Amino acid sequence: MGGRPTIPPASSDVKDELVLVLDFGSQYAQLIARRVREQHVFCQIVRHDISAEEIRQRAPRGLILSGGPASVYQPGAPRCDERLFQLGIPVLGICYGMQLACSLLGGQVRSAPAREYGRAVCHLHDNHPLWNGLPQELEVWMSHGDQVVRVSDQFIPLAHTETCPIAAVAHRQLPVFGLQFHPEVSHTPRGSHILRNFLMHICGCHGTWLLSDFAEQTIQAIRQRVGHSRVICGLSGGVDSSVTAALLYRAVGSQLSCILVNNGLLRKNEQQMVVEQFSSHFQTDLHVVEAEERFLSALAGVTDPQEKRRIIGREFIECFREEARRIPDARFLAQGTLYPDVIESGSAPGGPAATIKLHHNVGGLPAELGFELIEPLRDLFKDEVRRLGLDLGLPEELIWRHPFPGPGLAVRCLGEVTRERLAILREADAIVVEEIRRAGLYRQTAQAFAVLLPVHSVGVMGDARTYEQAVVIRCVNSDDFMTADWSRLPYDLLARISSRIINEVQGVNRVCYDISSKPPATIEWE
Ligand code: XMP
Repeated sequence: MGGRPTIPPASSDVKDELVLVLDFGSQYAQLIARRVREQHVFCQIVRHDISAEEIRQRAPRGLILSGGPASVYQPGAPRCDERLFQLGIPVLGICYGMQLACSLLGGQVRSAPAREYGRAVCHLHDNHPLWNGLPQELEVWMSHGDQVVRVSDQFIPLAHTETCPIAAVAHRQLPVFGLQFHPEVSHTPRGSHILRNFLMHICGCHGTWLLSDFAEQTIQAIRQRVGHSRVICGLSGGVDSSVTAALLYRAVGSQLSCILVNNGLLRKNEQQMVVEQFSSHFQTDLHVVEAEERFLSALAGVTDPQEKRRIIGREFIECFREEARRIPDARFLAQGTLYPDVIESGSAPGGPAATIKLHHNVGGLPAELGFELIEPLRDLFKDEVRRLGLDLGLPEELIWRHPFPGPGLAVRCLGEVTRERLAILREADAIVVEEIRRAGLYRQTAQAFAVLLPVHSVGVMGDARTYEQAVVIRCVNSDDFMTADWSRLPYDLLARISSRIINEVQGVNRVCYDISSKPPATIEWE
């Protein structure tokens, strides 16, 4: 996406209380940013090596140095620009961030005698502003191999645990603080309170960032930018594209044209549902492209997952391009890119991560389409997008819908994708979702769906031998979809799903339950 024009920051006052999280490769960097935003302070994640000069220009109220997997003295360990400590901006180092701050400012870091991982009781030493309103003993979550063993006179130790003599520090002259434990995780029950103390009492924030203001500012900014031109928005039925369309509709009303491509790989009744929801919320132009035939012919005979994704991505872009040409004066393209998609953080300091799947670019649109891009959600996390969608009046059912991959049922129909096999998968999938909803477990699970395997197995129905296909139920719990665990569904529910699929879906005589977590498996099968 690099280099394409995107919507400019809405207005400076929305983000005037900015806090930056410098990411040293922590699995928790996004969580830190979300915790800060929960205190109504706008927060962004940046690379760990951002220059002090850039920080100064962005004028944040505070900096948080995240944790990270490295050891401070390891060759090539990620560092920050040391000059940032002299900017007069409060800095909070967490775990690796604390070790780095201490080592750069004269402390000593050593490997802990035993790697400390898990709950600990932390004793707070005095009435420091970081501890405002907290009891003297706190339950905290530790996860580190190294710890700070000695700090120069410049630092005051603020807390200890049984095995960690310096669990928190403050610099005597500079506004630099450190926590060896993780305040951002739920296992540190008062962690948000500590972050709040840092933000309000040390950084001087007031917590003025509100999602509703953000939406209003974004709508104004879109209006100004778009003028009298037309904006195109692709609809998929998912949360992100729906909220994008809703924001755009609020901003430019009938100047919005939406495109829905029916690629033949949608779930049962999906197209109908999107069209109905669309018509009840927007009085604007909707183009439905009927492209089932086109996608299925392009996919004929293809079994390789990456090849499927490539074909679907290519056909989608072509369909979209052809339809967009029919929309006169279209100058802008709105996309539901979210903040996690745009963070350029320290999580991959060594270079590009391995390509596991040709992923989220499937269902995205390339720069060559020639539109100016509007990405009104690019500063938001998924939970914020959901809240915004509800504020904009979108129905709960849509807002809490499980994510669905761009390549659709094709990556759940293992082996060849044919109309007949898709019909089987669609029916089985609808049963899985219906039963999980009926059991009241839909909101608790992150994703639940059916997968059709390219194998036949022997069964017996009535008195006859059958030789039919197998369906897998995949149901996972996950916070961020980077990791996931299989859901411990009740046996009765699994039994009901299995017997309904075998009885109601012709062509299936066996149902399995996928009990793999991610990693090492992935959520989708292809
Ligand atoms: P995996 O299978 O890698 O999936 O564990 C993680 C999440 O991403 C979704 N997914 C996709 N989303 N286009 C998308 O928009 C894609 O090509 C795609 N592939 C997987 C998947 O459903 C899960 O939520």
